[in-house]
Amino acid sequence: MSKPKILVARAIFPEVIAKLAQHFDVVSNQADEIWTPAELIAQLQGKQGVFTTGGERIDAAVLTACPDLKICANMAVGYNNFDLAAMTAAGVLATNAPDVLTETTADFGFALLMATARRMTEAEHFLRAGKWTKWSYDMFAGSDIHGTTLGILGMGRIGQGIAQRGAHGFDMNVIYHNRSRLDAATEAQCQARYVSKEELLKSADHLVLVLPYSASAHHAIGAAELAQMKPTATLVNIARGGIVDDAALAVALRNKVIAGAGLDVFEGEPQLHPDLLSVPNVVLTPHIASATLSTRLAMANLAADNLIEFLTQNKAITPLNPEVLVKR
Ligand code: GLV
Repeated sequence: MSKPKILVARAIFPEVIAKLAQHFDVVSNQADEIWTPAELIAQLQGKQGVFTTGGERIDAAVLTACPDLKICANMAVGYNNFDLAAMTAAGVLATNAPDVLTETTADFGFALLMATARRMTEAEHFLRAGKWTKWSYDMFAGSDIHGTTLGILGMGRIGQGIAQRGAHGFDMNVIYHNRSRLDAATEAQCQARYVSKEELLKSADHLVLVLPYSASAHHAIGAAELAQMKPTATLVNIARGGIVDDAALAVALRNKVIAGAGLDVFEGEPQLHPDLLSVPNVVLTPHIASATLSTRLAMANLAADNLIEFLTQNKAITPLNPEVLVKR
């Protein structure tokens, strides 16, 4: 019997390709070319499954043009590259890669918060530029982390991981806002207090965004929200580009409406709003919050295992639209 055909849309770990090749006839983009939507559609012809990495848009046009496609497995917890409703309507299973990246991503969120509050990259640039000729009492004075108020917008698994680090590691007063309030036991574990979004903006010394992207989350933080924050506050975005209005943020940073920002995700990435590159009080990283080798390997294996389980046994480990499984 011939093996099902699948496409791996970006370069991934060779050992994961080898595992997939035990079950499938694999075409993989190990050259890591960035395909246009038309090129992706051409590559998907005759493929029953696709391994995506979060940047490949799968929508009604792709689904109509690729009638053999049965599963799209994302190597990311976020899945805003999927039109989930269109996939469900077309009977195509969507899977993501949650859980395996939670602690690694929470570590990074905290690292970005600390680097921003303590102005670490700004200070390093100063030093590398040879400008450090003498010590001075207020040189790169930032803001404290321990004992301050940590605000979290979006309190899923990663938000909870950040809350635990803040509460238990840094004695922070943790407040959060989320679509739904956590149960009392989880709130107690995170030592976190539910507040309105307004209260969160007003009270946080450090505000971390960890909410999923959706149309309603678009520009959840814009000029009006930034104006409600403390002028000494730090904003960290490890969620998705588009949740923050980057143009408004650049203006707010320049005008010291808030003290600083740490950004791992951007509107239109890998392009950045040019003004973000010229303001000094922002720490910029290229979407690497889950990037440790062991976590990226675990994410790739989870996406691969979803493809294997589904195409060999009609099961999935982390389905996003499990109703597709029931119907088959
Ligand atoms: C990364 O951004 C992810 O969604 O896994």
